[in-house]
Amino acid sequence: MSEQAAPQTIESYLEAQAAKTTLRFLTCGSVDDGKSTLIGRLLYDSKLIFEDQLAALEADSRRSGTQGEDIDFALLVDGLAAEREQGITIDVAYRYFATDRRKFVVADCPGHEQYTRNMATGASNAELAVILVDARKGILTQTKRHSYIASLFGIRDVVLAVNKMDLVGYDQAVFERIVDEYRAFAGQLGELNITPIPMSALKGDNVTSAGEHMGWYGGPTLLEHLEGVRTGKDLAARPFRLPVQWVNRPDLDFRGFCGTIVSGTVRPGDAVQVLPSGQRSTVARIVTFDGDLDEAQPGQAVTLTLTDEIDISRGDVITAAQTPPQTSDQLAVHLLWMSDAPMYPGRQYYLKTGTRTVSCVVTELKHSVNVNTLETQPAKSLGLNELGVANVSLSQRVAFEPFSEDGELGAFILIDRQSNATVGAGLFDFSLRRADNIHWQALTIDKQHRAAIKHQRPVVVWMTGLSGSGKSTIANLLESRLHDLNRHTYVLDGDNVRHGLNRDLGFTAADRVENIRRVGEAAKLMVDAGLITIVSFISPFRSERRMVRDLLDEGEFVEVFVDTPLEVCEQRDPKGLYKRARAGEITNFTGIDSEYQPPEAAELHIRTTETSPEQAVEQVLGYLEARGVLG
Ligand code: ADX
Repeated sequence: MSEQAAPQTIESYLEAQAAKTTLRFLTCGSVDDGKSTLIGRLLYDSKLIFEDQLAALEADSRRSGTQGEDIDFALLVDGLAAEREQGITIDVAYRYFATDRRKFVVADCPGHEQYTRNMATGASNAELAVILVDARKGILTQTKRHSYIASLFGIRDVVLAVNKMDLVGYDQAVFERIVDEYRAFAGQLGELNITPIPMSALKGDNVTSAGEHMGWYGGPTLLEHLEGVRTGKDLAARPFRLPVQWVNRPDLDFRGFCGTIVSGTVRPGDAVQVLPSGQRSTVARIVTFDGDLDEAQPGQAVTLTLTDEIDISRGDVITAAQTPPQTSDQLAVHLLWMSDAPMYPGRQYYLKTGTRTVSCVVTELKHSVNVNTLETQPAKSLGLNELGVANVSLSQRVAFEPFSEDGELGAFILIDRQSNATVGAGLFDFSLRRADNIHWQALTIDKQHRAAIKHQRPVVVWMTGLSGSGKSTIANLLESRLHDLNRHTYVLDGDNVRHGLNRDLGFTAADRVENIRRVGEAAKLMVDAGLITIVSFISPFRSERRMVRDLLDEGEFVEVFVDTPLEVCEQRDPKGLYKRARAGEITNFTGIDSEYQPPEAAELHIRTTETSPEQAVEQVLGYLEARGVLG
């Protein structure tokens, strides 16, 4: 009998679990606000702590807890946190628990400002935020910051958990004052559903049961609210969106487009549009591992086949034909910076949205936003955990929806091109109209024609090295030699270009990034004009030199490392600048208090302590000759 019953029981249990909805929520606050105690009590009271953890907890509480004979819930959570910190890269700790009515995923985010990026990560995966306030302290700067980041990253439901009510004598007036102050502040954050709950996580009031001390409060306990709340988005009711993960083409007869549906419902026969190309077709089949479906919903991984042979690749989005998202390659965005290395406008990153990854440059940083006060201030770069409003320019159009309209295609991340690390998270605000008004003008005479009558192949000879390393000397000699050979040339020299095109730029890292971006674009135009272009700039950062390399066609960028040790440059000091930098009269001087990143794989490496300028020029000419540049 029992042999028969057991599997059935497990099956029905699993079915019941599967049928429950899941609420993903975020807790914001610091340990001082009682956050660990609160989460610990939720886990403990819902009995989902493993037995061995519980035994250890009771022993620990007696040994080192601060709560006498009571169990110290904070130890439980802090214990888990310590375990987590052993791990490698988990930014946010997720915990899972369930009651009879619902399953929960709690993202536990640290409260301090240096963890703003962790909070943003947690918020972007959650539907609701529990914002913890210490009743004795009221609304603090961090309360505002937590609320702002949560709302910015899409959370519309907030529980204002006014904790430690036991320490203010369970005074209703204290609670109401805090709630009023919070509502006044939250008015700036757009539409938020705020549920204030007075509680004592330590004593257990209004966490999972009402307790005896706050008869004046008629609302739900925290757990009741979490079990019952209906949050925001009905993804199934939104327009259909399927970012294509990969194209499955086992043979010539089958071509399926695979991915996870992010919003909307799809059925065979539905008219669809593929973005960014705009081609239209009709859904033929919805193929899954377990057979074809009549309908598929958000969150389901499916393979679609279409009735027409159209060109679709990874990163495209298949969308409802009548209600497509917008597409753009120039957008206004909110950007939260997550890396120690600052964000500089002009530097290239990868932008990933949905399954599409494209190159991206922040063309303009309009301002940064103080995450504590919401005030804006002018900024030239963004540091770790700083938030900015910016314009970005992308190498290709992407499908997007403004984040404020709750679309599922509203967010993106930025990725460092060298390390592949995620360095920023952002939200699309709107498309810049100018993107649609500027078209590429095709010209009859192109680079090849222009180069052909000069009998040469245009290239950029890019000389990088410290100030005083000898770049300009070599550049000047090289141009003379090429001139004697009847070649068509131009020299872009740092000091000279900074008198004109770049006279508005100084020597901060941000300005140097922009300096090189502009010179790179200018060099590209000269190559297009058919010229052998010699560039002589310190160009201290690998990232920007790489950017210029990518701007040009294969073989057009010849990087020449003019390698002179700092001591030698300082001895030469042709303009007396090193002396002044050492005396503290010039700041941000390359090699002294500003970084120089030597090339790792330059086409040519010239050690000027062993090579005369004339010999250096011969090396360059030899290289150009061998590559057929000289015709
Ligand atoms: S870059 O770093 O942005 O590529 P660039 O080549 O344009 O520099 O300009 C370097 C020249 O500016 C140097 O050769 C030097 O004459 C002058 N200069 C003035 N201040 C500085 C500074 N703080 N750091 C480096 N060069 C400086």
